[in-house]
Amino acid sequence: MTEPAVPRRHLLDLEDFSAAELEAMLQLAGEVRDAHGRAGGKLGWLRGSVLITLFYENSTRTRASFEIAGKALGAEVVNLTASSSSVAKGESLRDTIATLDALAADAIIIRHDQSGAVEAASRWSRTSIINAGDGWHAHPTQALLDLFTLRERLGTLAGKRILVVGDIQHSRVARSNCWGLTALGAQVMLCGPPTLLPPGFGAAFRGRAVQVEYNLERALAWADAVMALRLQHERMGSGHLPSLREYRSIYGLSVERMAGYPHLPVLHPGPVNGGVELDPAIAHGPQSLVGRQVQNGTPVRMAVLLWATGRRNLDLGSLRKEACHA
Ligand code: CP
Repeated sequence: MTEPAVPRRHLLDLEDFSAAELEAMLQLAGEVRDAHGRAGGKLGWLRGSVLITLFYENSTRTRASFEIAGKALGAEVVNLTASSSSVAKGESLRDTIATLDALAADAIIIRHDQSGAVEAASRWSRTSIINAGDGWHAHPTQALLDLFTLRERLGTLAGKRILVVGDIQHSRVARSNCWGLTALGAQVMLCGPPTLLPPGFGAAFRGRAVQVEYNLERALAWADAVMALRLQHERMGSGHLPSLREYRSIYGLSVERMAGYPHLPVLHPGPVNGGVELDPAIAHGPQSLVGRQVQNGTPVRMAVLLWATGRRNLDLGSLRKEACHA
């Protein structure tokens, strides 16, 4: 895949990211993590910058880690939610973006419950827009931290077999991971009940190495790592599942089922419906990378913030030295 002729200003999805662009972002995240550790948690690379988080949908991990990442880089971080801003008085997304543009923010980080809303915001904005999750469409920073975490555990992703199991249909995390993982040479298998994983879903990824399997035992036997997804009740109509108990028995990463795969790394983007898609003993047990995913969210989002504010071509040698003297 060729590099974009004009450097990207926004991070909307990983769909058209090349392997080289992803490698550069993940390498920057690794360097930032090391520099952050050496500097005792404070770096000044975004001192004087203003970042705005604008969340139209609830979040714990993404919002907190963007705020921590921005502050760790020395930026001012302003947090807005739909309920605490003039959105609650009926202000449109377009007017909100125009207002934040006028305040000369350096980047706006948006979560929205409508697929496509963040892309629309990017067309109206002079400021860099970062997608913190939009509807069913995309969650690129979650996928980046998943790639980072999987590479930590598995080494290169080329040829690795990554199973994603659960509510695929409603999952922006699954979609962004399919693009990112396959760009780096991994094979992806999607597994879930047919009501949450329509036949032919893999074709949406246009020839990428994405396959569908409805039998979880076959899928687990194939995999080098497994990522469970949350059942997204807020995005489902009725009739998708007979019962949560039945879902767990067929598609849950339960203690009983995972006894057959004790060394298979287990991921979950969170939040978890405990005892449904993932048993608490698995989520908090030795094969779990769930906590590591959350930890890695900070350096990965620090890298994304540097990238979005035009510091993506930092000389990593100088960056290391700067961190030593910070
Ligand atoms: N994984 C994720 O996006 O979690 P939050 O909804 O808590 O941000």
